[in-house]
Amino acid sequence: MNNDRFLIKGLAGAKTLKGTVKVSGAKNAALKAMAASLLFKDEVTLRNVPGIEDIKRIADLLSDLGLDVNTKGKNTYILTPTKEISYRLNPDISKRIRSSIVLTGPLLARLGKVAFPHPGGCVIGERPIDLFIEGYKKMGAKVRVVRDEYIIEAPDGKLVGTELYLRNTSVTATETFMMAGVLAKGTTVIKNAALEPEIVHLAEYLNTCGARITGMGTPTITIRGGALLRSQKKAYVTMPDRIEAGSFIILAALAGKDVRIEKCNIENIQSLLETLKLSGVNIETGRDWVRVRSTKGKKGVCKAVHIKTHEYPGFPTDLQAPMTVFLTQAEGESLVFETIFEGRLNYTESLVRMHADITMMDPHRILVKGPKQLHGKTLESPDLRAGLAFVIAAIIAKGGSVVHNVYNIYRGYENIEERLQSLGVDIQLVSGD
Ligand code: EPU
Repeated sequence: MNNDRFLIKGLAGAKTLKGTVKVSGAKNAALKAMAASLLFKDEVTLRNVPGIEDIKRIADLLSDLGLDVNTKGKNTYILTPTKEISYRLNPDISKRIRSSIVLTGPLLARLGKVAFPHPGGCVIGERPIDLFIEGYKKMGAKVRVVRDEYIIEAPDGKLVGTELYLRNTSVTATETFMMAGVLAKGTTVIKNAALEPEIVHLAEYLNTCGARITGMGTPTITIRGGALLRSQKKAYVTMPDRIEAGSFIILAALAGKDVRIEKCNIENIQSLLETLKLSGVNIETGRDWVRVRSTKGKKGVCKAVHIKTHEYPGFPTDLQAPMTVFLTQAEGESLVFETIFEGRLNYTESLVRMHADITMMDPHRILVKGPKQLHGKTLESPDLRAGLAFVIAAIIAKGGSVVHNVYNIYRGYENIEERLQSLGVDIQLVSGD
């Protein structure tokens, strides 16, 4: 692990940030679209792909499997399946990235066999894969665990479409079975499916290339299986990242004088916008932009609001950490209820070290009392979302902060320090000892 770190000089509560920032393509959309290249006979071109570490890892995995992986500039990938695709996911790369699990569906559906280790990823608590294993079994596959590896095989080389009820609404399980269903024999029906907009975006692209998916964006998705898809050079254009958009909006609400966030999909961030407006943030929206301006005087202090993370269209768990930083500056008591992941509130210990008034009620709930001036500290980014929340906390704090483990932040955010600098943030990347 290198020692790259961000040095951030805090604004001590001043609202001075100004300018325009453009939102990148969505990490959690592009990763799945790259996995979906395994469903194709011909090459797939993906545009507006964010230049981030998780995308590079998936590209490494696909290349290791035997696909031709080419790039054009920083944000375009051209992925071409070859005749020599391996069924075994590289264990070292897979363990570094949770979304490696989504490759198992299309790979198993294409080759009739897949081998992979338990996937890695963020340190946000238990990340089980039981839904995937159960689903593959229901689709007729045999599952073995040999040493550290799952080996899954479909008899006669073909998964069989069936009804899959997801006991937990899971984003990646929904996407994985949707992709598996595209090449399975017969019809696959996913019940209690996740509704996230990235799923709809993927299904719509696959449908333009010959897939037969209906019901995406509802709890029941139906996929009629068929042959390998053909892109016929129709490019996939990655939708805007709603989590990145939301994080910039939160930063602007905390430290912005006049900040415009462009290339957003407003509909996808409604839960956040409604919550911030309720708290008193001055927000204006256009077709694909959000403008946040500071309000003068006492009115500038926002009110406490309770948040409860929920599957889409509820409040996203991926915005829970930056939102908690926002709530440290809101007047009154806010309850934050993290319902999706256990362990996704552990980062708040570091906010407490920065003088935030946060009480852990239980592993899923915290009470935040504000407003409280934060103080700069040395911090360690535990995962990409909490990592960016620390950057935001450091920006509003009094004094300087050091944020270590920058790799975690680069997993999800492209050129983050340059974009923050353009708004007036004093942030520097320092490498080495
Ligand atoms: N779950 C199971 N069994 C499984 C799979 C999931 O019990 O086999 C549970 C999880 O433990 C969790 C719940 O289901 O309690 C929901 O998790 P989900 O599977 O939806 O999460 P995910 O698909 O692993 C994706 C995003 C996450 C995001 C969540 C929730 C990707 C690559 N990851 O994860 O994004 O937090 O959905 O929206 O799409 C991030 O980008 O930082 C990130 C963590």
